[in-house]
Amino acid sequence: MSPLLLKHLQKEDIGRFPVWIMRQAGRYLPEYQKIRKNHSFWEMVSDPSLATEVSLLPIEILDVDAVIFFSDILTPFFGMDIPIELKESVGPVLDKPFRTLTAFEPLADFDPQLHTAFVGQTLSQIRSALDPKKALIGFAGAPWTVACYLVEGQGKKGFPSLLSWLYEDPSGVGTVLEILGALTSRYLQFQVKSGAQLVQVFDTWVGEMPTAFFQRYYKPTLQQLFKDLRPLQVPVVYFPKNAAHLTEELVDLDFDVLGCDNLLSLPAWDHALSGKFSLQGNLSPHALLGSESRVRELTQQLVAEARKLRLPGILNLGHGVLKQTPVANVKAFVEEAQRPWN
Ligand code: CP3
Repeated sequence: MSPLLLKHLQKEDIGRFPVWIMRQAGRYLPEYQKIRKNHSFWEMVSDPSLATEVSLLPIEILDVDAVIFFSDILTPFFGMDIPIELKESVGPVLDKPFRTLTAFEPLADFDPQLHTAFVGQTLSQIRSALDPKKALIGFAGAPWTVACYLVEGQGKKGFPSLLSWLYEDPSGVGTVLEILGALTSRYLQFQVKSGAQLVQVFDTWVGEMPTAFFQRYYKPTLQQLFKDLRPLQVPVVYFPKNAAHLTEELVDLDFDVLGCDNLLSLPAWDHALSGKFSLQGNLSPHALLGSESRVRELTQQLVAEARKLRLPGILNLGHGVLKQTPVANVKAFVEEAQRPWN
C-alpha cells in the first residue's frame, strides 16, 4: 500500500488533501521539550532511536500524513566533524565560518554513508515503524541557504559576508554552490536509498540573492541537482522562500512540488507558474497563534483555494510552526485540512 500523499500526487482520488507541517517535530510540543531537556540537539539528531522517536511524535499527536525525519540542514557538516553549535534562539553557529573557496574544497569528499550513517539508520527505523499510509520525507538545505550559514557562520540578516563575496567574485561563489549542489545530490540519493519517499529542498534564504546571480550562477546548480534526483523516482519539493520575483526562473526547473510561503495565495502561485507544479502550503504560521475557531476558518479558506489548483496540492504552513503555538491550534489546522471533500 502506498502512502496517501503519494497517491494524491499521482492524481488518485483520496477524497481530501494530505497535510504535514514544517518543523512539526519541534519546540511547540511539550513531548519534544521533555526529551530535549535531557539531550543536546545534535545528540538527538545523531542517535537513530531518539531521532526516530521524535520524528514520530507528530504522527501520534497530530495524525499528519507524512513524517519529516528529525535533523537539520547542517547535519552533513556536523557529520564531517565541523564544529557547529546550536544556540538557543539563534540557531546553528559555526566556530569557523567558511570564507574562501579553499575552505569549501574538502566538502567534495562528503560521503553520506560514512559521515551521516546515523541518518540512514534513522530513516530505515522510521520506515519500519511507520504506518504504510503515511509518507516519509527526506530533506536537505539548498546549496544557497547552506552557503548562507557556512559563510556567515550563523543566520544573520542580509548575510553580509556571503553577499559581499558574491559581488566581489560571483564565479567563486558559483563554484561554492556547485560543490554544495554535488554534496546535496549525494546526500538526498542516500536518503532515498535509506527509505525516504519524497524529498524537500529548503531554500529559506534564496530571497536574499540578486536575480541576475540566480539566472547565471545558481540556476545551473539547481538544474543539475534536480536532474540527479530524477532517476530516484520520488517527488521532489523545492521550497524557495520569499521568491515571488523568481517565477520566470522557477518554471525552467524540473522539480515536482513548489513549497509556497504565505506571501502569495496558492491560486496566485498557480497562475504565476501556469500550473506547472503541484503546490504545497501555505497558511501563515502566525495564523496559528490566534483563536482555534479562527484557525479552523482560515484553514477552510485554504482548502477552498487549494481545490482551485490545476494539480493536486499538499497542505502545510508557509514556514515552520512557531515555538509559542498552542498544540490545540495545530491539531485544529490538521483536522480541517484533512476534512473529506464530500
Ligand atoms: O521540520 C521538521 O520537523 C524536521 C526537522 C527540521 C529542523 N530544522 C529541526 C530543528 C528541519 C527540516 C529543519 C530545517 C532548517 N534548519 C532550515 C530550513 C527551514 C526553515 O525553517 O527555514 C533552517 C534555515 C535551519 C537552520 C536552523 N536550525 C535554525 C535557524 C534553527 C533555530 C530556529 C529554531 O526554531 O530554534 C535550527 C534549530 C532547529 N532545527 C530546531 C529544530 C527542532 C530547534 C532546536 C532546539 O532548540 O531544540
